[in-house]
Amino acid sequence: MTSAIESEILRDLWYMAIPGQRLKRGQILGKKLLGVSMLLGRDANGEVFAMRDICPHRGIPLSHGTFDGREIECCYHGWRFNCSGACTHIPSLLPTQKFDLGRVLVDRFPCREVQGNIWVFMPEDEHAIPESLPEVPFIPDVDESHYRMVETSLFPCSIDHAVVGLMDPAHGPYVHRSWWWRTKKSMHQKSKEFAPSHRGFTMVRHKPSSNSSAYKFFGETSTEIRFELPSTRIEHIIAGNHRIVGLTTLTPLTDMEVELHQVFYWTIPWLTLARPIVRPFVRTFIEQDRDVVDKQQQGLNEDPQLMMINDADKPARWYHQLKKELVLSRAEHRPFNNPVPHTTLQWCT
Ligand code: FES
Ligand SMILES: [Fe+2]
Repeated sequence: MTSAIESEILRDLWYMAIPGQRLKRGQILGKKLLGVSMLLGRDANGEVFAMRDICPHRGIPLSHGTFDGREIECCYHGWRFNCSGACTHIPSLLPTQKFDLGRVLVDRFPCREVQGNIWVFMPEDEHAIPESLPEVPFIPDVDESHYRMVETSLFPCSIDHAVVGLMDPAHGPYVHRSWWWRTKKSMHQKSKEFAPSHRGFTMVRHKPSSNSSAYKFFGETSTEIRFELPSTRIEHIIAGNHRIVGLTTLTPLTDMEVELHQVFYWTIPWLTLARPIVRPFVRTFIEQDRDVVDKQQQGLNEDPQLMMINDADKPARWYHQLKKELVLSRAEHRPFNNPVPHTTLQWCT
């Protein structure tokens, strides 16, 4: 069966903006999120905020300015803005000149720090941010004290190809072929049970496959993998009394640039000691995915018809169905009807 992959970026949802540790108190930084120039900051009290990174006077990014932990001063004419985006001072105005500072406002975006990561709500309409916002994706069993490692990579593709690559089981033995993860020889038939879950689906808790070597370090383990729109994957591993949780987020910076954050939380002390050894493996794994996406783009540039086949591509198909349903349910002002069935998928990897 063929299927064109269209790449609409969903809005009115939270997107991972940056790991919290990369934004210090009193720091601001500018970055693109979904094509929007965004200023991210952390004030003197440690609170995070996000606003459009454009000065309303002449349009220069405010991130070129300075921040004292309370106010941002534009580098061009020194207009000052508080962390809510309100203008507080225009140096060129004489005390006798009447001007309503209340007219000068930078668009502010909802911003939250959850479990060590900073998320920004990207609204459909920047001037009509919904009063009640959805929940930021939440990981059970862990908190900021378990935050152990984060790696970031830039994927040169659309959000849809990045997500489909993330959930695709069939590339493992080819893209991630290595003694410590998969060998081609070890490929065998697998059967995985799936269930619908919040705005997505879950590969229900199971013993990891016998050819997933990396799990073997942790003894008896079980894992559950949950995907949630727009682009969050949470793998929750139970190893005895311990937990290892991988959070993978994909954030479109522009139409053809997706930032991947791979965050790990764990409760195993020896793993913390082994972090310098573990990190290069994580890095390699991510780079393998990035490199294959890079090569894939050479073909996608000619806009070919693509295929989705049988069970191995079912999660990719669900992703598109979930997206469609979210858009439709919003347009029809009705509850979201999860299109994913309870089912078992089989493939050879
Ligand atoms: S452009 Fe920012 S103060 Fe003039
Ligand atoms: Fe992969």
